[in-house]
Amino acid sequence: MRIDVVSIFPEYLAALDLSLIGKARRDNLLDLNVHDLRDYTHDRHRKVDDTPYGGGAGMVMKPEPWGAALNRIAAESPAAGPLGEKPILIVPAPAGAVFDQAMAYELAEAQHLTFACGRYEGIDERVLEHAAESFDVRPVSIGDYVLNGGEVAVLAMVEAIGRLIPGVIGNPESLVEESHSDGLLEYPVYTKPGSWQGREVPEVLLSGNHAKIARFRRNKQLERTAARRPDLIVELDASTLNRHDRDT
Ligand code: ADE
Repeated sequence: MRIDVVSIFPEYLAALDLSLIGKARRDNLLDLNVHDLRDYTHDRHRKVDDTPYGGGAGMVMKPEPWGAALNRIAAESPAAGPLGEKPILIVPAPAGAVFDQAMAYELAEAQHLTFACGRYEGIDERVLEHAAESFDVRPVSIGDYVLNGGEVAVLAMVEAIGRLIPGVIGNPESLVEESHSDGLLEYPVYTKPGSWQGREVPEVLLSGNHAKIARFRRNKQLERTAARRPDLIVELDASTLNRHDRDT
């Protein structure tokens, strides 16, 4: 997969050199390019913002550098096809659709993702209108709170998407039982020693009885989800529940 990120703080994205995503880049599973928006300015001060038309607090990102950066990325996109296929442009913003695991799975199928990191009060709206000629533009939020810019949101989204690309995680089975993969939160996990600080590992996990262990874990998932995220229980597809779940 190719990923382009445009930001006025490219150093923020240095964390994407670390751990599994860094390894995926070195293994050529992920072709990740970070662009400094100021490289697309033409004035001495490399200015990327200006005061808002209509007044109001704060500054707005100027359209010209964004237009130049996005035009260049669109022109190079491996996803732009002869039948008008468009690469995806994700614009992190608190006013976007909420990013979740289903969206991560969908985006992990893409050939090319571009992320446009806004700062200040946001990017001039005409940039998104213009970009829609070449991109499938998607404003996306990582949650109902406000960050100072899109960079931290991009770190979260690239990690969540990147780990779903085949080959990035050594053991793909670990994706099957994690939180949100089946609409429930993950069950609790334990390792050695069996007794620590007077606390014992639940006995069933030492029993070797796989059916009982599976039932124990499933019950813990249901209990945890009901306690911590009742909203997920409401959304659960009833057909995914079995008879034993209903007794829990
Ligand atoms: N930029 C500022 N706040 C954000 C949020 N919650 N999600 C994505 N991008 C943002």
